[in-house]
Amino acid sequence: MVILYNTKYKQQIKKDYKIQYQHLGKRKQRTQFSKCMMIALKIFYLVWTSLVLSMLIIRILNLSLRNDDVNLTSFPSQCGSWAYSNGCTRIVKNGTQCVRQGTIPNSYPYQFQLSYVDQDDGTTMNTTDIVQICSSQIGFSKQVYPTDDIDESQSRIFMHLFIETPFFGFINDFYIEFVQQFYVSNSYVQVQSQSRLSGNDLMQNYNYVETFFKCLKTMTDEQPIVKSCS
Ligand SMILES: *[C@@H]1O[C@H](CO)[C@@H](O)[C@H](O)[C@H]1NC(C)=O
Ligand SMILES: *[C@@H]1O[C@H](CO)[C@@H](O)[C@H](O)[C@H]1NC(C)=O
Ligand SMILES: *[C@@H]1O[C@H](CO)[C@@H](O)[C@H](O)[C@H]1NC(C)=O
Repeated sequence: MVILYNTKYKQQIKKDYKIQYQHLGKRKQRTQFSKCMMIALKIFYLVWTSLVLSMLIIRILNLSLRNDDVNLTSFPSQCGSWAYSNGCTRIVKNGTQCVRQGTIPNSYPYQFQLSYVDQDDGTTMNTTDIVQICSSQIGFSKQVYPTDDIDESQSRIFMHLFIETPFFGFINDFYIEFVQQFYVSNSYVQVQSQSRLSGNDLMQNYNYVETFFKCLKTMTDEQPIVKSCS
């Protein structure tokens, strides 16, 4: 009887121990899981803070660097030296001054009437207004020159916009010159878009310029009969 009782007792103890052991194992697994979670969270936190920090640094660099070079009051005579090779597109009348023109001269007009009649409501719109509308279609932009309204009676109108890329907020400088040719009663539009920082812009500025001319073509129905960069 005693022996039997003992073995039963031992078995019971074993069972209890097993139950306890299983429980401990689960707890072990659980603590391992939360350790992994903590590490993942820490990594996520580190990556996130360094992203935010680098975004901040890029923004500060963007805004503080080369303010003198980019704070213009008239259309630039050439692409900035830092952006010339991979970060600038320039479409002007004078072909020797064009930079990274791609297919823009053959696909889009740069010469326009001074005004256009709207097909729908018959109102007349100055080409300068169309230029302004199209400049707001390029991307997340802010006009920095002129700070007041544009004087439409001037024969040369200069505009400067900041265009920010999404996320990192790289700043690109977009310059527009609208030139009235009174003797032939028409106008032409010259554009330069360049990165504020040096480096490869992955054709971003080319795309801005193309978007701008595409908009002008759509709104005026003009064809590239007289080509830019020629
Ligand atoms: C940019 O140019 C304008 C007009 O010439 C001037 O008032 C302004 O102080 C300049 N800004 C910087 C940052 O140089
Ligand atoms: C075109 O630009 C080049 C380089 O800036 C200049 O030497 C030339 O005189 C210009 N041509 C015209 C017709 O303005
Ligand atoms: C169009 O431009 C002329 C000057 O060339 C200006 O007198 C007129 O007010 C402008 N019209 C509009 C609708 O802005």
